[in-house]
Amino acid sequence: MLALLSTSAPAAEEVDQLAIYTPGEERPGGETSHRKPRDRHVFSQPSANMSFADRLSFGLGDSLFDKIWVPSPSSTTASDGLGPLYNARSCDQCHQRDGRGQPKANWPEALATSLFLRLSIPPQTDTQRQQLKRGRIGAIPDPTYGIQLQNRAINGLDAEGHMQITYTESQVSLADGTQVSLRKPTYHISELKYGPLHSQIMLSPRLAPPMLGLGLLEAIPDSAIMALSDPDDLNGDGISGRPNWVWDQQQEQLAIGRFGWKAGNPSVLQQTVSALSHDIGIGTPYQPSPYGDCTVRQTACLAQPEGNTPQQDNSEASAELVELLVFYSRNLAPPVRPDAQQPEVLRGKAIFQRSGCSNCHQPSFETPNEPNLAEQSAQQIWPYTDLLLHDMGEGLADHRPEYSATGREWKTPPLWGIGLTNTVNGHQYFLHDGRARTLLEAILWHGGEAANARQKVINLATSERHALITFLESL
Ligand code: HEC
Ligand code: HEC
Repeated sequence: MLALLSTSAPAAEEVDQLAIYTPGEERPGGETSHRKPRDRHVFSQPSANMSFADRLSFGLGDSLFDKIWVPSPSSTTASDGLGPLYNARSCDQCHQRDGRGQPKANWPEALATSLFLRLSIPPQTDTQRQQLKRGRIGAIPDPTYGIQLQNRAINGLDAEGHMQITYTESQVSLADGTQVSLRKPTYHISELKYGPLHSQIMLSPRLAPPMLGLGLLEAIPDSAIMALSDPDDLNGDGISGRPNWVWDQQQEQLAIGRFGWKAGNPSVLQQTVSALSHDIGIGTPYQPSPYGDCTVRQTACLAQPEGNTPQQDNSEASAELVELLVFYSRNLAPPVRPDAQQPEVLRGKAIFQRSGCSNCHQPSFETPNEPNLAEQSAQQIWPYTDLLLHDMGEGLADHRPEYSATGREWKTPPLWGIGLTNTVNGHQYFLHDGRARTLLEAILWHGGEAANARQKVINLATSERHALITFLESL
């Protein structure tokens, strides 16, 4: 079922071979790939193979993604229930135009922030140790502040605090003499309003990732992901990816994590439900508390009005509303790559493979026949991810585990659409916290299992490096 390219770097004489165009690679999402204009709305297009009837649902999902939630009580019961604590008032405020968020160093400019801090503490009791070990929960929340720092609150309630970032620059020299400056962030929280954080608090900054092709990633068979897993590096390529096993709340079983920077979420549904709850403060039939991430210690938060209504399945947002959001998120289609056959792009592709990038950024998969998911069924896709966790070294470590992911591990992010980041979002901030300001900086942050690949890029001739970046920009 799965693809296609060898998992070890090819010998030098194979390189020119690999520079050959592979039929289909210009359509990263298979038949879902669209040919709409490559403007700032290029990430907001539906699967090209979607039926006319389904486009209506997609449109409804789109408006829910942009919907600005308001506090309760309100005359519009369809849009109330915001907070009491929250980070943003709509999905789109973070996933801007279905693309990625951007880090802002200082509040209050950062108030509608698309970069937030996850919070947790090491297990304190045997029960907590057991729950973590059995994969029933991903992390132990801070007893006061919960699982995420909410930097906003409805009127009359204090926001929890504000994230502050300071950056320290350091220089990397490339073999051709080029100097690149990397900025390392340090995070602090100011204006803590509910007392101290736990003494063993762990923070993990997370930038809103782009929303492309999520239904296709969800459709990749477990077996194809497992086939790439090599936890003990038996093939000796220095790379030991493994899946994150996380708790699927709907199926009530362990499942491979696919979404989030540490693959902490198994499905678009679960990710959507927790976004509504933790990021916006909206309860759903799946996660019924209308109080989001308020903890028992935040009594003022729990005393706020809630927005449950019969019209919304006695929740703040109905199961139908969640389904429309999920349908929308699954069907945001990757754009066609018009330059896939350009010689410079193909040269960059060969360098990508020769540098070992494709050992983690796995080019291609096939999705199985799935009659219930018409658009995603039986497609050859080109996401450039293995969906596995990798130790990326100390430089990128957040020192905060999530399910089985350690504080040094991150999921390989897909690279499809990455060259359009600036077009859609007007910036080029990459990696889990947006520290990288260019694609080259993102590569130079790679360490741990990717240290060899990074070194190969440092050693490239100038023109080879440019070809590699041209290839990435063509994705
Ligand atoms: C406050 C900012 C914020 C808001 C609001 C927000 N998200 Fe997210 N979203 C994120 C971040 C950050 C991540 C990565 C989370 C992680 O690493 O665990 C994410 C991840 C996701 C993912 C997984 C994407 C991937 O490639 O892994 C989906 C799907 C998603 N969000 C959907 C939604 C939906 C639907 C809404 C609205 C109901 C929403 N989000 C609202 C910040 C936000
Ligand atoms: C060992 C696995 C591994 C290898 C090898 C690897 N990467 Fe990555 N890559 C990752 C992971 C994991 C991340 C996310 C790290 C983070 O956000 O902290 C990442 C992030 C990126 C990003 C930023 C993506 C985004 O959405 O912000 C780019 C660009 C990238 N890699 C390109 C490359 C290139 C080019 C190479 C080869 C020179 C390469 N990678 C080799 C695992 C790998």
